[in-house]
Amino acid sequence: MYDIRKEQAEDWWDVESLLDLTFAPGREALSSYRLRDGIDAVPELCLVARDSYGIIGGTIRFWPINIGNKKSRALLLGPIAVHPTRQAEGLGGQLMRSSLELAKQQGWFRIILVGDESYYGRFGFKNANFLKYPPPTNPDRLLYLALENNAFQDVSGLISRAE
Ligand SMILES: CC(C)(COP(=O)(O)OP(=O)(O)OC[C@H]1O[C@@H](n2cnc3c(N)ncnc32)[C@H](O)[C@@H]1OP(=O)(O)O)[C@@H](O)C(=O)NCCC(=O)NCCS
Repeated sequence: MYDIRKEQAEDWWDVESLLDLTFAPGREALSSYRLRDGIDAVPELCLVARDSYGIIGGTIRFWPINIGNKKSRALLLGPIAVHPTRQAEGLGGQLMRSSLELAKQQGWFRIILVGDESYYGRFGFKNANFLKYPPPTNPDRLLYLALENNAFQDVSGLISRAE
């Protein structure tokens, strides 16, 4: 049983340690981090899951981004990570569903991420071949979710940093 709450300042090092453990070394060299550098995450959507002993089991964070020449507002989902000893028990799904519901409630309607469609497809994400992600990124892994009908209509092009 996990307590899922908004990430607080005091969660920072536990979250960073979990991300270091879960992802390959050098994660901060990924192009996603260039979209995040110097820009605050969206605090209302960054969640931390702790067990009844207070031990961190999972994290999810979101950043604002822009899409295309029109600079359409969207969210970049990630990183999401579940501790290796706690994976495949449903926690990732809980973090996804809780944060997507919050995003909807808070008026966001476009979300993108870089990840496996075979996992994120269950939450409604689809391949975003009409979008371009800063290289080097495998375009097959660029996915989108519209939280509102037609949210991506007339939205295409390069994903860039929110300003
Ligand atoms: C991806 C991740 C967040 C999922 O969290 P989780 O708690 O393990 O996932 P859930 O328990 O909700 O779901 C488990 C299911 O997802 C599947 N799954 C997990 N990672 C997957 C992946 N990369 N591709 C396809 N399926 C995946 C499992 O096989 C399992 O399938 P089943 O439901 O058919 O049994 C977690 O496995 C993780 O932290 N992985 C390493 C870091 C990572 O890759 N983060 C995402 C970067 S985009």
